[in-house]
Amino acid sequence: MDISRLKGFREFLPDEMEARRRVFEVMRQTALSFGFGEVDMPSLERLDLFRVKSGEEIVEQTFSFVDKGGREVTLIPELTPALARIVAHRKDLQKPVRWFSIPKIWRYEEPQSGRLREFYQFNADIFGSSSIYADAEVIALAMEILHRLGLAGKFQMRISDRYMMEAILRELGDVDVDRAFRAIDKIGRADEGWIQNELISAGIPDPDEFMGFISSHGGQDVLDDIEAAYPSTRPRCERLRDLMSLLDAYGFREHVVDLSIVRGLAYYTGVVFEAHDAKGEFRAILGGGRYDTVVKLFGGEDTPAVGFGMGDAVLELLMRREGVWPEERFSPDVFVASAGAREYAIEVAMKLRREGFRVEMDLSGKGLSKQLRYASRRGIPFVVIVGDREMEKGVAVLRDMAAGTQVEVPLKDLPALLRGRLP
Ligand code: HAM
Repeated sequence: MDISRLKGFREFLPDEMEARRRVFEVMRQTALSFGFGEVDMPSLERLDLFRVKSGEEIVEQTFSFVDKGGREVTLIPELTPALARIVAHRKDLQKPVRWFSIPKIWRYEEPQSGRLREFYQFNADIFGSSSIYADAEVIALAMEILHRLGLAGKFQMRISDRYMMEAILRELGDVDVDRAFRAIDKIGRADEGWIQNELISAGIPDPDEFMGFISSHGGQDVLDDIEAAYPSTRPRCERLRDLMSLLDAYGFREHVVDLSIVRGLAYYTGVVFEAHDAKGEFRAILGGGRYDTVVKLFGGEDTPAVGFGMGDAVLELLMRREGVWPEERFSPDVFVASAGAREYAIEVAMKLRREGFRVEMDLSGKGLSKQLRYASRRGIPFVVIVGDREMEKGVAVLRDMAAGTQVEVPLKDLPALLRGRLP
């Protein structure tokens, strides 16, 4: 019998989970500070939800099966369609809606560096605003999260616009736009010969020249060049110019226009973006864009939308490389050791727990020195020692394990004293 863990799935023990939880907490606090509210959605959905508009590639990657009721269902490979469905159905929602979520996501991909079969994916989306301010706001949220995680200057936010690329392709001739997008999306990941062939099949006359052209990236100058070469892109170039200026106003510097960004999912309309590490070592840290037609397609009112998803896998690789991944260590703040007086020890532990400390209590019933040795081995910084004498006096002994010193304190003063000593 094989009961081993499946490939591409991870287990986290408390030390590891503590670091990851801190990263998620930064994401959560940043999203809240941008006025986004947290939501949660089902992990299992009908496969049809993703057939509508996510695109073939993602449906092929689903962990799907037929349930006992004969329904074709799947573990969610992304969150966006479920969000669009709820916005379509809940017509009472006040727009614009700003939502974030940190679900687990499953994709049957070949596990490799930064690519897993189960991962967490932070999502943030705005529904009900077609304005460029909404585009800027979600991209700024993504950049602010990366900044707060210690990655300022370590990433590049690459931005493009599908309508702009479509206008370019149409100026080139009778091009199969979807096929060309799929090939462009694979640049850097698929074989170059294959990409060239695909571009030719899509109707691009000179793929070499085209590849050279879309490899250009930079600021306003790149937009000027695009507009000069392909005049029909003008309105979209204008929009991108405004977007870049807005991101400047937020105080960010890591954004560039990059024509090779088209994104793999089928539903995107307009602006699309991905963040990559500045050294170009890993796959995308995050990706997103505008998807203005999905809510209507699901039976809702015409509701433009923009958002992004950021997995924890590439983010972790990059944070580790830059030395900013949080320390992987879980420890209680305090160990309550007791020599007899069990009820008093319980009272002290509960008081500290309710004051917000992480408190472990002795479960062994062994002697005090063994309890102290246990706390020391676990690396717990403080031990509170109580016995019959302390109970009678209403005090506790607080021992600082690193310094090896201890003081007797009235129980009521213990939380404040501890708070002052903990980092
Ligand atoms: P996506 O580009 O498919 O977009 O995924 C977004 C991010 O999820 C990727 O940049 C990466 O961080 C992470 N990711 C994707 N696949 C894997 C994998 N196999 N292993 C580890 N991480 C992975 C979406 O999912 C869109 N729904 C995002 C979105 C939200 N667009 C608008 N709103």
